[in-house]
Amino acid sequence: MEAKSICRCDLNAELEKVIAQHEGKKDDLIEVLYWVQENYGYVPKDVQQIIADKMNVPLSTIYGVITFYHLFSLKPKGKYGISLCKGTACYVRGAPQVLERFEKELGIKPHDSTDDNMFSLEVVRCLGACGLAPVMTINKEPRVRMKPDLVPGIINECRNADK
Ligand code: FES
Repeated sequence: MEAKSICRCDLNAELEKVIAQHEGKKDDLIEVLYWVQENYGYVPKDVQQIIADKMNVPLSTIYGVITFYHLFSLKPKGKYGISLCKGTACYVRGAPQVLERFEKELGIKPHDSTDDNMFSLEVVRCLGACGLAPVMTINKEPRVRMKPDLVPGIINECRNADK
């Protein structure tokens, strides 16, 4: 999706309209959250509170939905979006160890971004290149036959490209 250059107050006004369209329909929570993710780029805390108040849904329920579905994020996406496949082929060929190394090196878990907004980490299902497992992408560029020892080099590559 193309980034929108609408000011935050306009977005909040739009959000009120979207919520009004779903008034009294708690089952529409995911649709509202999807709209927020698409338009804000993530689901900010204050927006969660607005949704909770207006849709009369507990904040804990909203948080639960956001953290359950991979398409939602709690922070803005980092400049480098890392998506690691944990489909069956990747899983059995070492994806969990690669993920663990990313978590250690970046200090974040999946669904999160680094504080400097450089990296986001996501876990995805089959990327369609199982023969080259484990597979990951950085900003949609594939990296194949991943190994934990390759992780620091990839992170440095991104950091150096940004200098
Ligand atoms: S399981 Fe990872 S690419 Fe298919």
